[in-house]
Amino acid sequence: MGQVKVEVASPPFGEPDVLAFPVREDDNSAFANGASVLDERVKSRLRRLAAEGELRGELGRTLVVHTDGEIDARRVAPVGIGKSDSVDPDAIRTAAAAVARATRDFGGTVAWLLDETLPLSYEAQARAVVEGLLLGAYRPGRWKTDERARRPLERIILVAGDEPGLADTAERAARVAGWVNWARDLANSPPNELTPEALATRAAETGVASLRAESLDPSQIDELGMGALAAVGRASANGPRLIVLRYEPEQPTRADVTLGLVGKAITFDAGGISLKPALNMQDMKGDMAGGAGVLAGTAAAADLGLPIRIVAVVAAAENLVSGDSFRPGDILRAANGKTIEITNTDAEGRLVLADALWYARREGATHVLDLATLTGAMELALGDLYAGMFANDDAWRDEILRAAERSGDHTWPFPLHPRYRRYVDSTYADMKNSSDLKQASPALAAEFLHEFAGDGPWAHIDMAGPGFLERSRGDYLTQRGGTGYGVRLIVELARQLSA
Ligand code: BES
Ligand code: MN
Ligand code: ZN
Repeated sequence: MGQVKVEVASPPFGEPDVLAFPVREDDNSAFANGASVLDERVKSRLRRLAAEGELRGELGRTLVVHTDGEIDARRVAPVGIGKSDSVDPDAIRTAAAAVARATRDFGGTVAWLLDETLPLSYEAQARAVVEGLLLGAYRPGRWKTDERARRPLERIILVAGDEPGLADTAERAARVAGWVNWARDLANSPPNELTPEALATRAAETGVASLRAESLDPSQIDELGMGALAAVGRASANGPRLIVLRYEPEQPTRADVTLGLVGKAITFDAGGISLKPALNMQDMKGDMAGGAGVLAGTAAAADLGLPIRIVAVVAAAENLVSGDSFRPGDILRAANGKTIEITNTDAEGRLVLADALWYARREGATHVLDLATLTGAMELALGDLYAGMFANDDAWRDEILRAAERSGDHTWPFPLHPRYRRYVDSTYADMKNSSDLKQASPALAAEFLHEFAGDGPWAHIDMAGPGFLERSRGDYLTQRGGTGYGVRLIVELARQLSA
């Protein structure tokens, strides 16, 4: 993790393969801070490109120009950040990702001129540049046999002069971005490779010394009475696992807080007997993205040494069809003793989470957050950008929303209300797992989870949209597949809680 070196330097800064700098759409020949570093010959060439309309400052548009030795950098890459008044961290991430893509044939060292005239602190710019470069350079084609070997991105130099603390901020951002890409790798892994057991192995092999990993196998899951997780995983030859990561820093800031992170990790969701249609079913390998985010986010927080206790609980199972499948009509008993009538085997996420939430509380979690690709309707509502959040506690909801917006993992609040409970009232059991009405499916799923959330603050993030992309989002996430959603949010939340 974090093989890319990150430094802060003032000119001269060696001989980078490319020197990138932001260009605004409303003033595309000012080159702001770049003016001090760029040679007059380079600048006049850039002004000509601007005059000819090839360099506009449009968000995410870049071009790579050779400098022929006129300055220390081999090439310059002016990159558009859009109009000055709409520049935010996502704009910088998007621009940096465009540079990562435009330079990936030669990789090496990318230098980036931070711009003091932007309405973003150096710190915010540094984080966004590092994230954009590292997430933008991510390649999902690990399974291609003929991927052309290219020189990877090796080093990032942020050109900013003497800024105390900036190098540390940037280096930490790079480490977190490494964990985001680690989570993306998990989500992109094919389900024949990434079984529940394989996910448990990956969780145990993070290489972070302060983490303790454990995984409960099907017989231990049965012993604990986790009838919901057991039923969902039963049809597959690759049995379920309850994966637990514990992070105990030596001196947690708050002795009374244990952050409980719970993740849905359905390594493949065929829907079970309530089988899904064939179209795009392959994307249901990404139905473990919540669990991947929880594992990677926990690893990242531990890697950074944040002083907060964390217990992460990931319910991993494969929702398949076989002669031993659970069925519509079955009544299951979850670990907390409540009974669930199954009306749709494709509403499996809430079932595995029910038992995982119970386990997180049992292990002492005081503040719980679960991440899950739970409902197609949440993706219909918010698309690929925002996740929706439900919470039983206003302060906890606001804390998470603040972390989400600071992190770039966008999240929007949705209502949790006891009167949604009637949608899952069952004639036979304490509740049923789905409703036959085409209404409020994210909200009733949240109300279902509420039954298992135990005492204390709890929040549920339905990340069905931003967790796994069907196509480029047009920003810094231009690859289809896993996004690592939740990793940066968790780090930010852990930082806030331990500050
Ligand atoms: N994993 C799916 C939700 C999903 C759909 C995530 C599309 C990402 C993209 C979940 O297990 C599911 O199948 N949900 C059903 C529930 C329904 C049967 C009550 C849904 O939302 O359609
Ligand atoms: Mn499903
Ligand atoms: Zn699912």
